[in-house]
Amino acid sequence: MANERTLSIIKPDATERNITGLIIARLEASGLRVIAQKRVWWKKKDAKKFYDIHKGQPFYQDLVTFMTSGPIVLQVLEGEDAIAKNRAVMGATNPVDAEPGTIRKDFAVNMQRNSVHGSDSAETAKREIALCFKKGEIVG
Ligand code: RTP
Ligand code: MG
Repeated sequence: MANERTLSIIKPDATERNITGLIIARLEASGLRVIAQKRVWWKKKDAKKFYDIHKGQPFYQDLVTFMTSGPIVLQVLEGEDAIAKNRAVMGATNPVDAEPGTIRKDFAVNMQRNSVHGSDSAETAKREIALCFKKGEIVG
């Protein structure tokens, strides 16, 4: 296992319910460290760029609308096997399928309003971190 970095987003359904701290506590309890963090409100162009891998998917337009509907919290997480570890703590995309004790099982509203995002590969993590943070904003 390697020391890795991954991008995490706390989504608008979670900022709206004021549960960002509860989610960060879950991430930290799993051994992940928050080495960069900022709260932003994406414009349509930001969400479209971030999610351009999903362009053409039936859920793409709704996803862009949702991710620009309120503030979000962008984070870089660091730790052993951070990409897979974060995905495990997040749980399945649809909270109905998520394991007990995962963030999505406990906090997600539905498949779209599922509280968190996590990079799904090393390549994606590198791209997403570079899109969201300047080098000097990441302090490990
Ligand atoms: P994420 O990218 O947010 O970490 O989630 P994921 O890998 O588990 O899911 P992905 O397939 O990458 O989808 C990105 C986000 O799009 C919304 N979505 N809605 N059928 C639907 O209504 C649907 N499918 C996906 C979710 O917000 C999902 O997290
Ligand atoms: Mg994904």
